[in-house]
Amino acid sequence: MSDCKKKTAHNIAEIKKALGSSDGRTVGLVPTMGALHRGHLSLIERAARDCDTVVVSIYVNPTQFGPTEDLEGYPRQLDKDIEMASGAGADIIFAPADDELYPAPVFTEIKINELVGLLCGKKRPEHFSGVATIVVKLVNIIKPDIIYFGEKDWQQFVIVKKVFKDLNVDTLVVGMPIVRDADGLALSSRNRYLSQKQRRSAKALPAALELAHDMIKNGERRKDKIISAAKEVIAAEPSLELEYFSICHPENLVEVETIKGEMLLAAAVDAGGARLIDNKVIKI
Ligand code: PAJ
Repeated sequence: MSDCKKKTAHNIAEIKKALGSSDGRTVGLVPTMGALHRGHLSLIERAARDCDTVVVSIYVNPTQFGPTEDLEGYPRQLDKDIEMASGAGADIIFAPADDELYPAPVFTEIKINELVGLLCGKKRPEHFSGVATIVVKLVNIIKPDIIYFGEKDWQQFVIVKKVFKDLNVDTLVVGMPIVRDADGLALSSRNRYLSQKQRRSAKALPAALELAHDMIKNGERRKDKIISAAKEVIAAEPSLELEYFSICHPENLVEVETIKGEMLLAAAVDAGGARLIDNKVIKI
Protein backbone atom coordinates (compact mmCIF):
# COMPACT_ATOMS: atom_id res chain seq x y z
CA MET A 1 0.00 0.00 0.00
CA SER A 2 1.42 3.40 -0.95
CA ASP A 3 1.99 5.98 1.72
CA CYS A 4 -0.81 8.09 0.32
CA LYS A 5 -3.29 5.24 0.36
CA LYS A 6 -2.69 5.07 4.09
CA LYS A 7 -3.13 8.83 4.20
CA THR A 8 -6.35 9.10 2.22
CA ALA A 9 -8.96 10.95 4.23
CA HIS A 10 -12.58 10.29 3.34
CA ASN A 11 -14.16 12.73 5.73
CA ILE A 12 -13.46 15.98 7.51
CA ALA A 13 -12.48 14.38 10.82
CA GLU A 14 -9.92 12.20 9.03
CA ILE A 15 -8.35 15.07 7.10
CA LYS A 16 -8.07 17.16 10.27
CA LYS A 17 -6.40 14.22 12.01
CA ALA A 18 -4.03 13.61 9.07
CA LEU A 19 -3.03 17.28 9.04
CA GLY A 20 -2.54 17.43 12.79
CA SER A 21 -1.23 20.69 14.14
CA SER A 22 0.80 22.40 11.46
CA ASP A 23 3.61 23.49 13.83
CA GLY A 24 4.74 26.14 11.41
CA ARG A 25 4.87 23.70 8.49
CA THR A 26 3.50 25.11 5.25
CA VAL A 27 0.51 23.37 3.71
CA GLY A 28 -0.20 23.42 -0.04
CA LEU A 29 -3.56 22.42 -1.49
CA VAL A 30 -4.19 21.21 -5.04
CA PRO A 31 -7.95 20.94 -5.57
CA THR A 32 -8.98 18.52 -8.34
CA MET A 33 -11.93 16.50 -9.56
CA GLY A 34 -9.68 13.48 -10.17
CA ALA A 35 -9.05 11.59 -13.43
CA LEU A 36 -5.58 13.00 -13.00
CA HIS A 37 -3.22 13.74 -15.88
CA ARG A 38 0.14 15.49 -16.29
CA GLY A 39 -1.57 18.89 -15.94
CA HIS A 40 -2.71 18.04 -12.43
CA LEU A 41 0.65 16.45 -11.64
CA SER A 42 2.49 19.66 -12.56
CA LEU A 43 0.49 21.46 -9.86
CA ILE A 44 1.23 18.75 -7.29
CA GLU A 45 4.95 18.76 -8.15
CA ARG A 46 5.08 22.53 -7.75
CA ALA A 47 3.25 22.32 -4.42
CA ALA A 48 5.73 19.68 -3.26
CA ARG A 49 8.60 22.01 -4.14
CA ASP A 50 7.03 24.94 -2.25
CA CYS A 51 5.37 23.36 0.79
CA ASP A 52 6.12 20.96 3.64
CA THR A 53 2.79 19.15 3.35
CA VAL A 54 0.84 18.73 0.11
CA VAL A 55 -2.86 17.92 0.17
CA VAL A 56 -4.61 16.89 -3.04
CA SER A 57 -8.38 16.94 -2.94
CA ILE A 58 -10.22 14.64 -5.32
CA TYR A 59 -13.88 15.46 -5.43
CA VAL A 60 -16.32 15.70 -8.34
CA ASN A 61 -18.19 18.73 -7.09
CA PRO A 62 -21.87 18.44 -8.05
CA THR A 63 -22.69 22.12 -7.52
CA GLN A 64 -20.53 23.24 -10.43
CA PHE A 65 -22.28 21.03 -13.00
CA GLY A 66 -25.33 22.25 -14.88
CA PRO A 67 -28.44 20.04 -15.11
CA THR A 68 -27.53 18.74 -18.59
CA GLU A 69 -23.80 18.38 -17.97
CA ASP A 70 -21.61 15.31 -17.43
CA LEU A 71 -21.74 14.93 -13.62
CA GLU A 72 -22.81 11.25 -13.72
CA GLY A 73 -20.39 10.27 -16.46
CA TYR A 74 -17.43 12.28 -15.18
CA PRO A 75 -14.46 9.86 -15.03
CA ARG A 76 -13.77 8.44 -11.58
CA GLN A 77 -10.61 6.39 -10.84
CA LEU A 78 -9.73 7.00 -7.21
CA ASP A 79 -7.13 4.24 -6.71
CA LYS A 80 -5.19 5.24 -9.82
CA ASP A 81 -5.41 8.92 -8.85
CA ILE A 82 -4.03 8.19 -5.39
CA GLU A 83 -1.02 6.41 -6.92
CA MET A 84 -0.42 9.24 -9.41
CA ALA A 85 -0.80 12.02 -6.85
CA SER A 86 1.45 10.18 -4.43
CA GLY A 87 4.10 9.72 -7.12
CA ALA A 88 4.04 13.46 -7.83
CA GLY A 89 4.59 14.37 -4.18
CA ALA A 90 1.19 14.44 -2.46
CA ASP A 91 1.33 13.66 1.25
CA ILE A 92 -2.39 13.50 1.97
CA ILE A 93 -5.39 12.84 -0.29
CA PHE A 94 -8.77 14.25 0.64
CA ALA A 95 -11.47 12.26 -1.16
CA PRO A 96 -14.71 13.04 0.63
CA ALA A 97 -18.15 11.64 -0.14
CA ASP A 98 -20.93 13.99 -1.27
CA ASP A 99 -22.80 13.78 2.01
CA GLU A 100 -19.65 14.88 3.83
CA LEU A 101 -19.39 18.20 2.00
CA TYR A 102 -23.08 18.71 1.22
CA PRO A 103 -24.91 16.90 4.03
CA ALA A 104 -28.10 18.87 3.36
CA PRO A 105 -29.46 20.90 0.45
CA VAL A 106 -27.16 23.87 -0.12
CA PHE A 107 -28.28 26.75 2.11
CA THR A 108 -25.31 29.07 1.64
CA GLU A 109 -23.38 29.58 -1.55
CA ILE A 110 -21.04 32.19 -2.96
CA LYS A 111 -22.66 34.43 -5.52
CA ILE A 112 -20.32 36.02 -8.03
CA ASN A 113 -21.44 39.39 -9.32
CA GLU A 114 -19.14 39.97 -12.24
CA LEU A 115 -17.30 37.83 -14.76
CA VAL A 116 -19.88 35.04 -14.63
CA GLY A 117 -21.77 36.21 -17.70
CA LEU A 118 -18.56 36.18 -19.77
CA LEU A 119 -16.66 33.44 -21.63
CA CYS A 120 -17.57 30.05 -20.11
CA GLY A 121 -20.14 31.65 -17.81
CA LYS A 122 -22.47 32.39 -20.73
CA LYS A 123 -23.11 28.69 -21.24
CA ARG A 124 -22.57 27.72 -17.59
CA PRO A 125 -24.35 30.37 -15.48
CA GLU A 126 -24.12 28.54 -12.12
CA HIS A 127 -20.71 27.01 -12.65
CA PHE A 128 -18.44 29.58 -11.01
CA SER A 129 -20.68 29.99 -8.01
CA GLY A 130 -20.32 26.22 -7.46
CA VAL A 131 -16.55 26.39 -7.96
CA ALA A 132 -16.11 29.34 -5.59
CA THR A 133 -18.25 27.67 -2.92
CA ILE A 134 -16.38 24.35 -2.98
CA VAL A 135 -12.96 26.01 -3.10
CA VAL A 136 -13.75 28.18 -0.06
CA LYS A 137 -15.13 25.13 1.76
CA LEU A 138 -11.94 23.17 1.02
CA VAL A 139 -9.79 26.07 2.18
CA ASN A 140 -11.77 26.36 5.41
CA ILE A 141 -11.34 22.65 6.07
CA ILE A 142 -7.66 22.33 5.11
CA LYS A 143 -6.41 25.86 5.85
CA PRO A 144 -3.60 25.81 3.28
CA ASP A 145 -0.96 28.51 3.04
CA ILE A 146 -0.91 28.17 -0.75
CA ILE A 147 -3.50 26.85 -3.23
CA TYR A 148 -2.59 25.88 -6.79
CA PHE A 149 -4.63 26.32 -9.97
CA GLY A 150 -3.95 25.63 -13.63
CA GLU A 151 -4.13 28.51 -16.06
CA LYS A 152 -6.03 26.25 -18.46
CA ASP A 153 -9.14 27.26 -16.55
CA TRP A 154 -8.16 30.92 -16.70
CA GLN A 155 -11.59 32.28 -15.78
CA GLN A 156 -11.72 30.00 -12.72
CA PHE A 157 -8.24 31.18 -11.70
CA VAL A 158 -9.21 34.88 -12.01
CA ILE A 159 -12.51 34.38 -10.17
CA VAL A 160 -10.92 32.47 -7.28
CA LYS A 161 -8.32 35.23 -6.83
CA LYS A 162 -11.08 37.86 -6.67
CA VAL A 163 -13.23 35.80 -4.30
CA PHE A 164 -10.29 35.32 -1.91
CA LYS A 165 -9.55 39.04 -1.98
CA ASP A 166 -13.19 40.01 -1.39
CA LEU A 167 -13.76 37.47 1.38
CA ASN A 168 -10.34 38.05 3.00
CA VAL A 169 -9.27 34.46 2.49
CA ASP A 170 -5.66 34.43 3.60
CA THR A 171 -4.34 31.78 1.21
CA LEU A 172 -1.93 32.58 -1.60
CA VAL A 173 -3.25 31.63 -5.05
CA VAL A 174 -0.62 30.34 -7.47
CA GLY A 175 -1.32 29.74 -11.16
CA MET A 176 0.59 27.19 -13.23
CA PRO A 177 1.10 27.06 -17.01
CA ILE A 178 -1.03 24.86 -19.26
CA VAL A 179 0.38 21.37 -19.88
CA ARG A 180 -0.25 20.19 -23.45
CA ASP A 181 0.01 17.06 -25.56
CA ALA A 182 2.61 16.99 -28.32
CA ASP A 183 0.12 18.33 -30.90
CA GLY A 184 -0.79 21.29 -28.71
CA LEU A 185 -4.09 20.10 -27.21
CA ALA A 186 -4.32 21.10 -23.54
CA LEU A 187 -4.58 18.05 -21.28
CA SER A 188 -8.02 17.68 -19.77
CA SER A 189 -9.88 14.93 -17.93
CA ARG A 190 -12.56 15.38 -20.58
CA ASN A 191 -10.21 14.53 -23.47
CA ARG A 192 -10.93 10.88 -22.79
CA TYR A 193 -14.50 11.44 -24.05
CA LEU A 194 -13.10 12.09 -27.54
CA SER A 195 -13.21 9.50 -30.33
CA GLN A 196 -9.98 9.12 -32.32
CA LYS A 197 -11.42 11.34 -35.02
CA GLN A 198 -12.54 14.02 -32.56
CA ARG A 199 -9.15 13.85 -30.86
CA ARG A 200 -7.44 14.53 -34.19
CA SER A 201 -9.79 17.45 -34.88
CA ALA A 202 -9.37 18.89 -31.38
CA LYS A 203 -5.90 20.20 -32.12
CA ALA A 204 -7.63 22.90 -34.18
CA LEU A 205 -8.48 24.59 -30.86
CA PRO A 206 -4.87 25.39 -29.86
CA ALA A 207 -4.06 25.94 -33.54
CA ALA A 208 -6.71 28.68 -33.76
CA LEU A 209 -5.26 30.41 -30.69
CA GLU A 210 -1.77 30.08 -32.13
CA LEU A 211 -2.88 31.56 -35.46
CA ALA A 212 -4.48 34.54 -33.73
CA HIS A 213 -1.31 35.09 -31.73
CA ASP A 214 0.86 34.82 -34.87
CA MET A 215 -1.31 37.34 -36.73
CA ILE A 216 -0.96 39.78 -33.83
CA LYS A 217 2.80 39.20 -33.62
CA ASN A 218 2.98 39.92 -37.37
CA GLY A 219 1.28 43.26 -36.91
CA GLU A 220 -2.39 42.55 -37.60
CA ARG A 221 -4.51 44.88 -35.45
CA ARG A 222 -7.96 44.36 -36.94
CA LYS A 223 -9.76 42.31 -34.31
CA ASP A 224 -12.50 41.11 -36.68
CA LYS A 225 -9.87 39.79 -39.14
CA ILE A 226 -8.05 37.92 -36.39
CA ILE A 227 -11.23 36.41 -34.99
CA SER A 228 -12.60 35.33 -38.34
CA ALA A 229 -9.29 33.69 -39.30
CA ALA A 230 -9.25 31.81 -35.97
CA LYS A 231 -12.90 30.79 -36.41
CA GLU A 232 -12.10 29.41 -39.86
CA VAL A 233 -9.51 27.05 -38.36
CA ILE A 234 -12.22 25.63 -36.08
CA ALA A 235 -14.87 25.61 -38.81
CA ALA A 236 -12.58 23.47 -41.00
CA GLU A 237 -13.19 20.63 -38.50
CA PRO A 238 -16.80 19.48 -38.83
CA SER A 239 -16.69 17.60 -35.52
CA LEU A 240 -15.99 20.84 -33.62
CA GLU A 241 -18.59 23.45 -32.87
CA LEU A 242 -17.29 26.80 -31.70
CA GLU A 243 -18.84 28.17 -28.50
CA TYR A 244 -16.77 31.36 -28.29
CA PHE A 245 -13.52 32.88 -29.40
CA SER A 246 -12.63 35.92 -27.37
CA ILE A 247 -9.88 38.50 -27.18
CA CYS A 248 -10.32 40.12 -23.81
CA HIS A 249 -8.58 41.71 -20.85
CA PRO A 250 -6.90 38.97 -18.78
CA GLU A 251 -8.23 40.18 -15.43
CA ASN A 252 -11.67 41.72 -16.05
CA LEU A 253 -12.36 39.49 -19.09
CA VAL A 254 -14.03 42.34 -20.97
CA GLU A 255 -13.63 42.17 -24.76
CA VAL A 256 -10.86 44.48 -25.93
CA GLU A 257 -11.62 47.15 -28.52
CA THR A 258 -8.05 47.56 -29.66
CA ILE A 259 -5.30 44.99 -29.96
CA LYS A 260 -2.70 46.23 -27.51
CA GLY A 261 -1.12 45.55 -24.12
CA GLU A 262 -1.85 42.34 -22.23
CA MET A 263 -4.67 40.26 -23.63
CA LEU A 264 -6.29 36.88 -23.12
CA LEU A 265 -7.08 34.84 -26.20
CA ALA A 266 -9.69 32.33 -25.05
CA ALA A 267 -11.87 29.80 -26.83
CA ALA A 268 -14.27 26.94 -26.16
CA VAL A 269 -15.56 24.26 -28.50
CA ASP A 270 -18.00 21.43 -28.30
CA ALA A 271 -16.45 18.24 -29.67
CA GLY A 272 -19.41 15.88 -29.90
CA GLY A 273 -20.58 16.59 -26.36
CA ALA A 274 -17.12 17.05 -24.83
CA ARG A 275 -16.58 20.68 -23.97
CA LEU A 276 -12.96 21.76 -24.52
CA ILE A 277 -11.47 25.08 -23.48
CA ASP A 278 -8.11 26.69 -24.07
CA ASN A 279 -6.43 30.09 -23.80
CA LYS A 280 -3.25 32.02 -24.19
CA VAL A 281 -2.18 35.19 -22.41
CA ILE A 282 -0.24 37.44 -24.75
CA LYS A 283 1.44 40.82 -24.57
CA ILE A 284 2.38 43.20 -27.34
P1 PAJ B 1 -10.08 19.85 -12.49
O1 PAJ B 1 -10.69 20.05 -13.82
O2 PAJ B 1 -9.82 18.45 -12.03
O3 PAJ B 1 -8.71 20.64 -12.46
C1 PAJ B 1 -7.96 20.72 -11.28
C2 PAJ B 1 -6.85 21.72 -11.51
O4 PAJ B 1 -5.98 21.25 -12.55
C3 PAJ B 1 -7.39 23.09 -11.98
O5 PAJ B 1 -6.70 24.13 -11.31
C4 PAJ B 1 -7.08 23.06 -13.47
O6 PAJ B 1 -6.92 24.35 -14.04
C5 PAJ B 1 -5.79 22.28 -13.49
N1 PAJ B 1 -5.54 21.73 -14.84
C6 PAJ B 1 -6.39 20.99 -15.58
N2 PAJ B 1 -5.84 20.73 -16.80
C7 PAJ B 1 -4.62 21.33 -16.81
C8 PAJ B 1 -3.57 21.44 -17.77
N3 PAJ B 1 -3.65 20.88 -18.97
N4 PAJ B 1 -2.46 22.14 -17.43
C9 PAJ B 1 -2.35 22.73 -16.20
N5 PAJ B 1 -3.32 22.66 -15.25
C10 PAJ B 1 -4.43 21.97 -15.54
O7 PAJ B 1 -10.76 22.69 -12.00
C11 PAJ B 1 -11.33 21.85 -11.32
O8 PAJ B 1 -10.98 20.53 -11.34
C12 PAJ B 1 -12.47 22.19 -10.35
O9 PAJ B 1 -13.20 23.26 -10.83
C13 PAJ B 1 -11.98 22.45 -8.90
C14 PAJ B 1 -11.05 23.66 -8.84
C15 PAJ B 1 -11.28 21.20 -8.33
C16 PAJ B 1 -13.20 22.75 -8.00
O10 PAJ B 1 -14.10 21.70 -7.98
